[in-house]
Amino acid sequence: MRKIGILTGGADCPGLNSVIRSVVRKAMQEGFVVTGIKNGWNGLIETDMRVLDLRVTSGILDRGGTILGTSRMVPPLELEKMKIIAENFKRSGADALIAVGGEDTLKIGLDLYKQYGIPVVGVPKSIDNALSGTDYAFGFDTAVNVATECIDRLHTTVESHHHIIVVEVMGRYTGWIALEAGIAGGANIILVPEYPIDIDEVCNILNARHKRGKTFSIIVVSEGAKVKGHSLGHSGPERRTLRRLTNVSELIANLIKKRTQYETRVSVLGYIQRGGTPSAYDRIIGTRFGVRAVELVKENLFGNMVSLHNNKVRYVSIEEAVKKRKAIDKELYDMAKVFSG
Ligand code: F6P
Repeated sequence: MRKIGILTGGADCPGLNSVIRSVVRKAMQEGFVVTGIKNGWNGLIETDMRVLDLRVTSGILDRGGTILGTSRMVPPLELEKMKIIAENFKRSGADALIAVGGEDTLKIGLDLYKQYGIPVVGVPKSIDNALSGTDYAFGFDTAVNVATECIDRLHTTVESHHHIIVVEVMGRYTGWIALEAGIAGGANIILVPEYPIDIDEVCNILNARHKRGKTFSIIVVSEGAKVKGHSLGHSGPERRTLRRLTNVSELIANLIKKRTQYETRVSVLGYIQRGGTPSAYDRIIGTRFGVRAVELVKENLFGNMVSLHNNKVRYVSIEEAVKKRKAIDKELYDMAKVFSG
């Protein structure tokens, strides 16, 4: 009987369990057995695996997180680790590996495919929606909905208190969550990593709002945004571990307060955006991706990642998907400016 291994790597996100359930269901129908690898690539280093069947994966469609657990590994991995992963995978007797993850997980998968001949199929996950080669990575929709709800709640409190609030959302390199939650939540200013922030411009917008009687404002900023003339210490070469981002929202709030004297507050939404139950859309996409991933295994289409194009599930080479990050849509960003101020 043929065997598929599946792992979830990198940051967890809503929809991972929908993919696992879908892979198991489809794989079993196709006559495969499925092995769940625990805690991302770590499970292949420590040979921590378990058989996944319909019983184990029943009732998980709507559960956040991942029943397999996950871990962060930032590529390139040390040669020694890569060898252990490749050897242990071969020893496991699996014929294919489905790696569900974002940029880091997929880059490691690509190296394993190219350098060690491991038959890898990728499934794109990213609450940041930063993967190229696909219109969408699951987890993003849930994150946008959570962030929008939080902005709505902050709206009523800052309006009552006549405060400026800087709401920090996730988005390490790209501003998708800030942009979409900002539009949906009616933010007055949206700040993203793709366009460095001019604090004078921000203050001008706030002053203009005050002049027309708006005594509160909502600024939505991505955690990875940069303020012109101020270093937050998160530039420079990539490291092996994921760098903790220092607080851009605090910096912006302090600069605004100094320049305008308006009462300014900060709210960092953080991990709330990644937790909890997936939206209907993420469950559906996760389910579609899982089925297609098993089909790619069946068709021996390794080295590829399932992807969404014009709402059809297709596939692209993992190489293409990780070549460069998908920046926010400039057209949407410009459109959002209509509501700035
Ligand atoms: O990659 C998704 C993401 O949520 C980023 O937006 C964020 O910077 C990062 O994960 C934080 O992850 P962790 O603190 O779990 O390593």
